[in-house]
Amino acid sequence: MIENHESWTPYLSRHEIEGIVCRLASRINEDYKGKDLLLIGVLKGASVFMADLFKHLTGQVDADFVRLSSYGREKESSGTITLLKDITADINGRHVLIVEEIIDTGRTLKFLYDRLKSSKPASIEIVTLLDKKEKRLVDVPVKYAGQSVKNEFLIGYGLDLEEKCRNLPDIYYLKYPN
Ligand code: IMP
Ligand code: MG
Repeated sequence: MIENHESWTPYLSRHEIEGIVCRLASRINEDYKGKDLLLIGVLKGASVFMADLFKHLTGQVDADFVRLSSYGREKESSGTITLLKDITADINGRHVLIVEEIIDTGRTLKFLYDRLKSSKPASIEIVTLLDKKEKRLVDVPVKYAGQSVKNEFLIGYGLDLEEKCRNLPDIYYLKYPN
C-alpha cells in the first residue's frame, strides 16, 4: 500500500487519533450547547476526520462540503486557491464550523474563511485535527486544534501523497529530505 514503506514511520495510531477527536468533540459540544451547528468540511482530506467528529457531536448538526485546489509543488500549497465545489447551504445567520484535517501555510483556510465570512454567518470558527504551526505564512483564527505537528509530511486518515494513502487508518510521517 505505501511504496518504499521503510521511509514511512508511524506518527499517530488510530487510537491516538480517536482520543484527539473525542477531546475536540467534547469542547465543541460544550461551546455549541443549544445552538444549531453547520460543519463545512474541506474535501477530500478532511472527509475522514469530518465523519468521525460528526459522530461524536451531540447537538443539532448539519454538514456540507467544499473542494478547493491549490496549485504548487506536490507537497506544498501555492498562493493560488481555486474553488472546485461550493457549499449548497445558505450560511447567513448560521453557526459555521470549518473542518480541516491539517493546516500548513494557512492559505487554503484563509481563502475559505474570508469567503464564508462574507456571507454573514452568525459565527464562524475553524477546527483542525493537526496544525503545522511552524509553516504558517498567513494568519488564520484556529479555535480548535487537535495536535501541533512538526514540519513533516504526513499521510493516512485522509491525508494523501499524490491521491494515495488517504484510506490508511493510522497516520505516518516522511521526513523532508533537506
Ligand atoms: P495550506 O493551504 O498550506 O494550509 O495547505 C493545507 C492543505 O495542504 C491541507 O488541507 C492538505 O490537503 C495539504 N497538506 C498540508 N500538509 C500536508 C501533509 O503533511 N500531508 C498531506 N497533505 C498536506
Ligand atoms: Mg485538506
